[in-house]
Amino acid sequence: MSSNKLAEFQSQFARRADLIHLNNAGLAPISRVARDKIQYWAERYYQEGFWTDADYMADVLSSRQSLATLIGCQWDEIAWYQSAAGAVNQFAFSIGLKSGDEVVMWDQEYSSHLYPWKEACDQAGATLKVLKSEKNLATPTEKYLEALNEKTKVAAFSWVQFSSGARMDVEALIKECKKRGILVFIDIAQGLGIHPCKLWQWGADAVAGGSHKWLVSAVGVGYLAIRKDLALRMKPRLIGAYTYGTCDDPSDFACEPKRDATKFEPGSKQVLEITALGASCKMIHDIGVEVIEAEAVRLAQTLRLGLNAKGYQLLNPFGLDAISPMINFLPAHSDEMEKVTKILDNNKINYARRGGGIRLSTHAFNTDLEIAKVLDLL
Ligand SMILES: Cc1ncc(COP(=O)(O)O)c(C=O)c1O
Repeated sequence: MSSNKLAEFQSQFARRADLIHLNNAGLAPISRVARDKIQYWAERYYQEGFWTDADYMADVLSSRQSLATLIGCQWDEIAWYQSAAGAVNQFAFSIGLKSGDEVVMWDQEYSSHLYPWKEACDQAGATLKVLKSEKNLATPTEKYLEALNEKTKVAAFSWVQFSSGARMDVEALIKECKKRGILVFIDIAQGLGIHPCKLWQWGADAVAGGSHKWLVSAVGVGYLAIRKDLALRMKPRLIGAYTYGTCDDPSDFACEPKRDATKFEPGSKQVLEITALGASCKMIHDIGVEVIEAEAVRLAQTLRLGLNAKGYQLLNPFGLDAISPMINFLPAHSDEMEKVTKILDNNKINYARRGGGIRLSTHAFNTDLEIAKVLDLL
């Protein structure tokens, strides 16, 4: 059963023999359903123009539903952005930070998550408390919990850290934050689509991410999922026709903003990218995130064990026990870094330099043959 499902997932990708994709935590190849959707809407716009109006709007709505299903929230708790940064900005600048408030984050958060919080705290006179990661980029839950106090307004962290794959005990963390009345904002860009998501069920207040990594869709869509009560009391950062209604509503200064998360979208949407993302989310959900996760983690573990046996140093916090598609490693001697990256470049194996090491990230469309080739070359 699960091998059929895995084959179904793998058949979604071009899987060219000349390119090895091991920077899937950066920019993954897009799925066939995502590509088909982009081609479909491009052709319909070309052929039919405005006559597509109701259909494309319906597809944007069904894409909202598909993303919401993966997250575990409802479609009207989703707002589209051009990138994850836009979603973080909306939340950080509108949550009502005041002088004396604290926001707690790790020092290894991705810049699109870290910088908006820094600016929002600076403008409000609040304090951004940045916690130093531990050895091998570990992010111990206890250290994060110790940093919370009566001034903490928001706990803002990544579900999965982008350089190292580090994770905390998020369920316990959310529980503690709820008990203390602290808001929980989670960057899920490195988790959604590759790990089963229970964050909403556990009580996260808002999550944000983007389209182009584990959701195997085109770059150019960010999303915010936000609880209904928070959306209702939060002011949109960007204002336009769609804050209040649609392009068909006459201007009227007495009009009221929408009451759900769609009020955060000021205008027309990037339909091709959003519907491609919706198609990918549906495909991932229908196949099963668990199936995809198991294969990506299996391939990463083969690579991790192989690199370890060859004397490379693993920088991941969980070392050989990681249940993660991400590997961060260093050559045994620091002067060999360039040699290693050259080998990867010359053989069209992509990777990213992150957190001081080399990050490789496997997806379920990678193959044992590819992993064996990488290990052989290194
Ligand atoms: C943790 C994390 N958040 C967000 C993003 C994407 O941010 P944006 O969509 O603003 O480029 C990335 C990677 O690009 C990431 O690794």
